[in-house]
Amino acid sequence: MLKGKKILLGVTGGIASYKSPGICSLLRKLGAEVKVVMTKNATEFVRPLTFQTMSNNVVHCEMFNQLFNMDVEHISLAKWADIIVIAPASANLIGKFANGIADDMLTTVLMASRSKVMLAPGMNTVMLNSEANQKNMETLKNRGVIILETKEDLLACNDYGSGKMLEPNEIVDEIDRALMEKDLGGKSVVITAGPTVEPLDPVRFISNYSSGKMGYALADNAKKRGAKVTLISGPTKIDAPKVDNFVRVKTTRDMFEAVGKYFDDCDVLIKAAAPSDYRPKSYSEEKIKKGNDSQMNLIEMEKNPDIAAHYGSLKKNQIIVGFAAESTNVYEYAKEKLVKKNFDMIVANNIKKKGAGFGSDTNIVSIISKDNIDDLEIMSKAELAKEILDRVKNLMS
Ligand SMILES: Cc1cc2nc3c(=O)[nH]c(=O)nc-3n(C[C@H](O)[C@H](O)[C@H](O)COP(=O)(O)O)c2cc1C
Repeated sequence: MLKGKKILLGVTGGIASYKSPGICSLLRKLGAEVKVVMTKNATEFVRPLTFQTMSNNVVHCEMFNQLFNMDVEHISLAKWADIIVIAPASANLIGKFANGIADDMLTTVLMASRSKVMLAPGMNTVMLNSEANQKNMETLKNRGVIILETKEDLLACNDYGSGKMLEPNEIVDEIDRALMEKDLGGKSVVITAGPTVEPLDPVRFISNYSSGKMGYALADNAKKRGAKVTLISGPTKIDAPKVDNFVRVKTTRDMFEAVGKYFDDCDVLIKAAAPSDYRPKSYSEEKIKKGNDSQMNLIEMEKNPDIAAHYGSLKKNQIIVGFAAESTNVYEYAKEKLVKKNFDMIVANNIKKKGAGFGSDTNIVSIISKDNIDDLEIMSKAELAKEILDRVKNLMS
């Protein structure tokens, strides 16, 4: 959660600097304050005016002749930042920072700062792997500097190899990770997400509209807060967050079994998946042909295991959070489910409301426990994940 965080973005003279305004823009959209410091060489690639506009702040390039107020600029910038992120970090900047050289605004701010520092290197493969650069990066890592990985791709210099800077959204994700308080450290959290699919024949299946976004947001938030996270996911079309164990399943029975493997040792089970309650009674090994009306007119269904009720009945010290997606009598059904399935908390939403439910990036929910109902405003699934895990943390303490 980057709302209100103070981020100093350093930009150096690498070709990937054309992506840095994108980082600035994403950070501001997430509510962070951004100030930008550019090296003189960076201004050859992107104009300070771009960053001034994107950050809504004055851009700092020169050590001298730029007294906006009576502060010593490099010291006040260094004190201001919650984190300094250099993207791209050139081989030159990495070398200077590792060796204590402070000969321009950016390197001097780095030298004067006690904040967290993150570098997103971007350079040619040979430069990246050169003995000098590897040694410099090692030195900085040992000093606690976060050095992000680079990607392998066709580079701007037409060489193929490692050295490509991460994309703006990946860098912003890493900043979020670095700044998040590790208040779930030592806890083991199991999260189910997405739909399950119940095959009818090799090409057809029965499923639902669950996108997995809510479960993935919960897994992302829990991991960034230091928990050991197992994400058990049905088929989805979205990228999985970084977690400790990612378990891909297909059917409700697969999900039931997968939860069983992790349940005994977990502290928290969050059931954000939408497993199919029923499956076709029989599966045809061959594709059912179009003319076969009698087979398609009536699909006999049988009940799947109720994952939530089963593990609710086996609960020892675990906190179990369930979800209820309803289209009528939301409170009533959710409360009934809370008691019946032995949940500690249930997150209920009315899927008919605009901005709530499957596929949407936002949700409007009520968080219901045995003696409390909290009706929350519309919020992003990432924000809701934080709200839910804050409550889980309180229940654990
Ligand atoms: C077209 C061009 C692209 C460059 N791209 C990179 C790059 O991606 N990474 C890098 O470390 N240096 C790159 N350089 C070299 C740096 O600009 C050079 O080392 C410079 O001294 C860096 O200065 P700075 O770290 O103060 O910004 C490039 C130079 C040119 C002319």
